[in-house]
Formats: sequence, structure tokens, C-alpha cells
Amino acid sequence: MEWSSTLVLLVIFLLSFIILSYMKILKEKSTLPPGPMPIPFLGNLFQINTSNIVSTLMKLKDKYGPVYTLYLGPKPGVVICGYKALKEALIDQNDVFGERGDYPVFHNFIGDHDIGFTNGESWKNRRRFALLTLRNFGMGKKSIEERILEEAHFLIKEFKNTNGSPVNLTVYLARAIANVICSILYGNRFDYEDKRLLAITASIYNNFCIMSSTWGTLYNMFPDLMEYLPGPHKKMRRNFQDIYDISADFIKHHEKTLDPKNPRDYIDCFLIKMKEEADIADSSFYAKSLPRTIQNLIFGGTETVSTTLRYGILILMKYPDIAERIQEEIDNVVGRNRSPSIADRNKMPFTEATIYEFMRFCDVIPISLPHSTAKSTVFRGFSIPKGTLITPLLTSVHYDPEYYTDPTKFNPYNFLDEKGLFKKNDAHMPFSAGKRICLGESLARMELFLFFTSLLQNFTFKPMVSKEELELKPTASGLGSVPPEFKCCILPR
Ligand code: HEM
Ligand SMILES: *[C@@H]1O[C@H](CO)[C@@H](O)[C@H](O)[C@H]1NC(C)=O
Ligand SMILES: *[C@@H]1O[C@H](CO)[C@@H](O)[C@H](O)[C@H]1NC(C)=O
Ligand SMILES: *[C@@H]1O[C@H](CO)[C@@H](O)[C@H](O)[C@H]1NC(C)=O
Repeated sequence: MEWSSTLVLLVIFLLSFIILSYMKILKEKSTLPPGPMPIPFLGNLFQINTSNIVSTLMKLKDKYGPVYTLYLGPKPGVVICGYKALKEALIDQNDVFGERGDYPVFHNFIGDHDIGFTNGESWKNRRRFALLTLRNFGMGKKSIEERILEEAHFLIKEFKNTNGSPVNLTVYLARAIANVICSILYGNRFDYEDKRLLAITASIYNNFCIMSSTWGTLYNMFPDLMEYLPGPHKKMRRNFQDIYDISADFIKHHEKTLDPKNPRDYIDCFLIKMKEEADIADSSFYAKSLPRTIQNLIFGGTETVSTTLRYGILILMKYPDIAERIQEEIDNVVGRNRSPSIADRNKMPFTEATIYEFMRFCDVIPISLPHSTAKSTVFRGFSIPKGTLITPLLTSVHYDPEYYTDPTKFNPYNFLDEKGLFKKNDAHMPFSAGKRICLGESLARMELFLFFTSLLQNFTFKPMVSKEELELKPTASGLGSVPPEFKCCILPR
């Protein structure tokens, strides 16, 4: 065959391939919600700002409405925005929208043996077990509240030692919050200089940054392709493995020292559960799933809480009058001679409202984790097939103008009534909603209350620049919203 006819054949082949791909996409799109036109294989890649996916999703909502289709890679997904639509999906149609969707940045590394990235019976069983353990059932003598307060005291001591010199809070807060969850999982906290604690916090921080960047976004869209390309995303596996290795050491030690009548922590409870279910063929509790659930809990429970604390302190430096009002409330309810306790929470509406407002405003997990449809469904007149990736855009709930008069302004009165009592607002979903709602919610709320009050009881935080110069806009938004970098001085009250 001649060279030119080969070329003609190739062009015809390519053209028909492209035409067929487009026909497939058009057919697929005809029953799905509206959305920008994708191209074959790459999907909507060129319509997405991969270094700030949240701003892209918010802009598309303004253009296409609260329910739209977006191809994050070759397959179509559906983005759901605003309180009303998200409530209809995650709460009213819980059974359809409550599955976990594929999320390569986690799933490819922690796999099918954990909680957050598993579906079905194993998910249900391991989630229920973790919730019970976090609520203190059968776990040792030390309550969760005591473990949090113990850590808050260590942090206060550490802050005192800074003697008012400029401090980078990121590392301090990450270590303290990681220690709370380590105390629950492994049975003991670490010294702040312990190499294992440093390895845990560094790998979480590092992965969180990668996942929130262009690399994480591209890895989620094209996981197979990205495995072949060099870049920071190659470090994610090693980072997860560091936590796995540290956990494996603790598990070995626990197996040797286990006393089934006196479980000390999550690992002990899990080992006991494994023994109880040793005869059950398809038990959800087996050796491999223990370190995987630990990775999951450490990962979910560290960066989220410490980022909220760091962001909150930044906001309090910008609005010192709000910090003073919290301190006044602490002085009135707790005084200066004892530590705050969870029992004080009901009596401190201003503090509670400010913490709710931190969570709304900071919006630390802006697009939740992906969901997926458990079966084909009709939603607001559109057909969504089984297995479609669902992105719950939590940012659009927290900044929903139907529910907040001036959503871009930080304002604790969003959660206070005219008598100064705490007031709920439906459009508050920092932990998402429905059956997949964050399983660490109550732990996280306890930590935020006890850390903010313990710290503000002892210190005032002073910025290095004037408060007008402090910027609050996040510097990156992907998996997480990352607050601007800052240093501050920690002054005793
Ligand atoms: C301020 C703190 C926190 C925020 C904002 C937060 C937010 C979230 C969000 C948005 C989800 C996704 C829910 C969904 O799929 O719809 C989630 C899931 C999860 N979080 Fe949290 N979280 C926080 C703290 C914690 C803590 C302290 C823990 C650990 C004890 C934790 C463990 C988990 C786990 C295991 C899941 C997966 C749940 C499942 O798939 O069933 N989180 N979190
Ligand atoms: C994408 O987002 C980043 C970070 O917010 C921003 O600096 C950049 O200008 C955006 N790019 C485009 C093309 O809009
Ligand atoms: C924090 O301040 C309270 C009240 O002044 C005090 O009782 C407590 O000892 C301080 N905490 C630490 C760890 O110094
Ligand atoms: C604070 O520490 C973090 C983590 O080590 C680092 O990435 C960041 O650049 C530091 N910020 C400042 C203002 O020094």
C-alpha cells in the first residue's frame, strides 16, 4: 500500500473515532443535568482551574444552576450545590446518594479495608464500631474529654515557653491534634519531639497539600495516566506508608500485651472484636483492616481540626473584639482557676456561635468527599445513572445567600438570636450530611471547644502586622481550604 493511502485511512479512522466519541457524549449528556461541553477522554479539563477547583465549581453553579454535569476525566459526574438541593440529595434521598464514590488520592493507597473509602456491609460495621469506640464504649478509664484536656495543657505549656516571640502555629497545632487521635488509637500521646509524631504530622500535612493542589486534582481525574508521570503526587504512597508502619509497630506491641478485660484504646478494642468474630467467614474485622482504619481516622482527624484552629486564631487576630468577648464569657462561666469542660458549652453561646461561624467561614473541606449513586434515579427532572460520581459542593451551602445575609463577612451573629442565645442554621454542613456524615463530628466539636477555650483562657494572640493587613482568603482550595500563612506572638493574659 502506498504511503499516502495509509495516511488517508489513518485520518478517516481518527475522524470517525472522534465523531463516535462525540456522539456517545451527546447521547450521554442528553438526559443528564446541563453542563459545559467536554472533549473525549480529557472531559472538561480545559474548563477547570486545577489549582483552585472550588472557584471553578462555584462559577459553573452561577452559569448552570444548582445541579450540573461536569466531566472530571473521561466520565460524567454531577455537582450538587446550595442547601436545598444538597438536602434533597444527601438527606431526603439518603439511600441513593449515600454511597462513597471513587477517590483515587485515598482509595489507591488505603484501599478497600478502611471506613471512608469502602461501601456496603464492611463500611457499615467498621463505621459503627469506630463511632462506639470514639464515644468511649469499652475503652479504658480515661475519657475522650480527659484526653483532649491533657493535650491542651501540654500545648499551653509549650506556648508559654515561646515567651512572646513570633511563632508559626502550623506545626504546634498539628502535633497537638495528632496526639489527641493517637492517644485514642494507640493509647498514648507522644512527646512533641518524638520522631514518630513528626513523621505522622509531616506526612499528613504533605499529602493534604498535594491532594489540594493541581497534582491531586489531576490524579483524581486520570489516576492511571498519572501513575506513569513524575511529580509530587508520587510521594503520596510513601506518606501513607509511614503512618501504616508506625501503626503496625503499635499493633504488634498491643497483641503481646492485650488484656481482653481492660482494653486501653482503639487498637485493643479492635483486637478483641477480631477475636470475637474469628469464626465468621466474612467478618469486617480482620488483621489487614486494623491499620487501614487507623490510617483513615488519623488522616480524617488531624489536618481538619488543626486547620480550623489555625484559621480561627487568624480570624480572632483580625477581629480582636470577638476574641475579647469570648474571653469575657470564659471568665464569667469558667473563671481563671479551673480548666473549661464540655459541661460549660451550653452556658457559652457566644463562644459556641463563634466556633460554628469558624466552621462555616473557613469551610475546610469545601467539596466534601465524593459520593456516588447507588442506583439510577431521577433528580429534579434529570436522570442520573447508577454509579455516577456526585460532588457535594459544601462551599455553596456555607456561602448560600438564601441562608446568610452577607456570607463573605465573618459574623458570629449568624448563629445567635436577638437574645444572644445560640441559634441553629440549617445551611451548616461542614461535616457534610446524611449517612456518610463525618464520623468524627462529635470528637471534632469537643476538640474545637476545649482547645479554643483553654487557649483563650491563658493567652491573647497578636499578629505581626496590623489587623487591617491580615488577609483571610484561602490560598488554596481543593480537598481542603488552606488559610494564608502567618506568624503571631502568644502573650499570656
Ligand atoms: C473540623 C473537623 C472535621 C471536618 C470539617 C470534617 C469533615 C468531613 C467531611 C466533609 C467528610 C465527608 C462526608 C461525606 O462523605 O459526605 C468527612 C468524612 C470522614 N471524617 Fe471527618 N471531618 C472533621 C474531623 C474528623 C475527625 C476528628 C475524624 C476522626 C475521628 C474524622 C474522620 C472522618 C472519617 C473516618 C470520614 C469518612 C466517613 C465515612 O465515609 O463513613 N473527621 N469528614
Ligand atoms: C487559578 O487559580 C489560581 C489560584 O486561585 C489563580 O492564581 C489563577 O489565576 C487561576 N487561573 C485562572 C486561569 O483563572
Ligand atoms: C491556664 O490558665 C488557667 C487560668 O488562669 C490556669 O488555672 C491554668 O493553670 C493555666 N494552664 C496552664 C497549663 O498553665
Ligand atoms: C509554617 O510551617 C509550615 C509547615 O512547616 C510551612 O509550610 C510554612 O511555610 C510556615 N509558615 C511561615 C509563615 O513560616
